[in-house]
Amino acid sequence: MSNPDIGIDLGTANIVMTSGKKGVVLSEPSVIAYNKCTERILAVGTEAYKMIGRNPAYIEVVRPMAEGVISDDILTQCMIREFLLKICGHQLVKPRIIICVPAFITDLQKRAVGDAVMSAGCRKAYLIDEPIASMLGAGVNIGKARGHMVVDIGGGTTDVAIVSMNGIVTSHSVKCAGSQIDRAIIKYMMNRYKLIIGEQTAEHIKKTFTNLYDPREDVTMFVKGRNILRGLPDQIEINEMELFDAMEDVIFGIMEAIKKVLEETPPELVGDIQENGILLTGGGALLGGLRELIHRTLNVNCVLARDTMHCAAKGTGLAFQKINHLLDGFEGVTIYKYR
Ligand SMILES: Nc1ncnc2c1ncn2[C@@H]1O[C@H](COP(=O)(O)OP(=O)(O)O)[C@@H](O)[C@H]1O
Ligand SMILES: [Mg+2]
Repeated sequence: MSNPDIGIDLGTANIVMTSGKKGVVLSEPSVIAYNKCTERILAVGTEAYKMIGRNPAYIEVVRPMAEGVISDDILTQCMIREFLLKICGHQLVKPRIIICVPAFITDLQKRAVGDAVMSAGCRKAYLIDEPIASMLGAGVNIGKARGHMVVDIGGGTTDVAIVSMNGIVTSHSVKCAGSQIDRAIIKYMMNRYKLIIGEQTAEHIKKTFTNLYDPREDVTMFVKGRNILRGLPDQIEINEMELFDAMEDVIFGIMEAIKKVLEETPPELVGDIQENGILLTGGGALLGGLRELIHRTLNVNCVLARDTMHCAAKGTGLAFQKINHLLDGFEGVTIYKYR
C-alpha cells in the first residue's frame, strides 16, 4: 500500500479505522491488556475485550479512553500503534491520519490526542470535530447556511451539536450514554432482585431487550447471575417495563441534553432542524424505540444514520477529499492541523 490515508474514530467504547478507498478496515473495542510484571502488551481490541472480568491478577485489562478523552496517554498510544500495525503492517511510508475529537474537549486534551497518534507512528495528523465527521459520514451537505443537528450516543458520553456552514454553532455533552445505562441495569438487578450480573450481561440485555417507546409488562426475558444473599447462581425474569424503569434516568439525561441545545439554538436554525430532522449516530442510537421516543417527546423527527457505529470514522476518511476546503477558513474550528 502506498501513501495510506487513515481515518480514525477513537471512541470510549470502540475504535474504528478507515483506509483510503477501502472504507472501514478495523472496528474493535478500545481495550488493551498487558502483563503488570513485564509491562508487555498481551492483546488489544476484541481479544482484550474477551478478557474483561476473566483476567488473572497479573494481567491488567484497561479501557484507556474515558468519557471521550484520553485517561491514560501511554496505553492509548500503545493501543493505537498496535491497531495501525494491524492494518498498515511495517511499511516505509507512514500514513497521514485524520482523527475525530469530541467538540467539547479542551486544547490540552486535543494535544494529547494529537500526541498519541503522532507517537503511534504517522507522518501528519489532523484533528476534526466529531459532529462534523459524523455529518460527512452520513452524507449530509453541511457546507450550506442551513442547520443540522447530530446526536451521538457513544459509550461514555452523548454529544449533541448543531452544524452549519462546516462549523459548529452550539454543542453540549452529557455523561449519559451506553456504559451508564449498563451500570444502571446492574444496579437495578442488585437492588430489586439481589442479583449480581456482569457488564457484558447488562450490555447484552440493553442491546436485545430495550423498548423505550411502548414497554410492556407481558414481554419478558430471563437473566442469569449470582444471588448476593445465597452466593449461588440464580435466574430471574424481567419485563420490558422494568428495564425501562432501570434506564429511565439516563434516557432522561439524553433528552434534556437535546432539549438544552434546541433551546440555545437561533430560531432560524431550529426551523431547519424541524425540516431536516435530528441525525442519530453512535452505538446508543440503536437503543430500541429511541427514535420514536425522541419524536414523541420533543416533536422533532429523527433519522438513524446508516451504519451508525461507523459513521464518524467514515467521515474522517471522507474528510481527506475535502481537506483543503475544510482547512480554508476553518482552521482551528473544523480541521485542526496538528503537525
Ligand atoms: N444495538 C444496540 N443497542 C443499544 N446500544 C448499543 C447497541 N450496539 C451498541 N450499543 C452501545 O453503544 C455503545 C458504543 O457506541 P460507540 O458509538 O461505539 O461508542 P464510542 O464512540 O464512545 O466508542 C456501547 O455502550 C454499546 O453498548
Ligand atoms: Mg463515538
